[in-house]
Amino acid sequence: MAFTVAIDGPAAAGKGTVSRAVAAHFGLAHLDTGLLYRATGRRTLDGTDPVEAAKSLRAEDLEADDLRTPEVAQAASRVAAIPDVRGALVDFQRAFARRAGGAVLDGRDIGTVICPEAEVKLFVTATDDVRAIRRFRELAANGHDVDYDAVLSDLRGRDARDSARADAPLRPAEDAVVLDTSEMDIEEAVKTAIAVVDSKRS
Ligand code: C5P
Repeated sequence: MAFTVAIDGPAAAGKGTVSRAVAAHFGLAHLDTGLLYRATGRRTLDGTDPVEAAKSLRAEDLEADDLRTPEVAQAASRVAAIPDVRGALVDFQRAFARRAGGAVLDGRDIGTVICPEAEVKLFVTATDDVRAIRRFRELAANGHDVDYDAVLSDLRGRDARDSARADAPLRPAEDAVVLDTSEMDIEEAVKTAIAVVDSKRS
């Protein structure tokens, strides 16, 4: 039976960690839709047309080891504002969302555009500073040479672009449960998200 959990929110709010944990807990498949935009954005860095890049995305493009860099994140956010890029990625995401056995998808527009009929919608957020500290630590732990102010300005720039675009802007669905993780550690955020999903399953 199809059962979709849509998890949206701004950059580095913790939605990736929450999504993976929710998927593992309930035995659901998980799709990080940001990776589709990152892989598309990355291909444009060597001159590929963004719409062509989105249309011809291959599974191995999602495995490139530099998809998490700030440069690729910015390229992702730029291509994500192009309606034909978004259009090229819709069918894959919708099919994934309705697969038998259920799925968790995280992104920016899952509850609003990709899967408005999702059984559970969460909007995971946190203050700019908390998100920047988390992303800074994650990048530093992975060996990137990063500067806190640059990370903060990268997040703010992407959020502004993601929220202002005309097509599928970043915003909570009207029926989403908002989970502010600013004052939560990861265990608490995961526990709260699992409780929300449980409450919608019965
Ligand atoms: O989630 P992540 O930070 O990896 O996403 C990278 C970028 O991809 C976002 O800043 C956003 O511009 C775009 N994106 C999107 N819609 C999604 C997922 C990601 O526009 N569903």
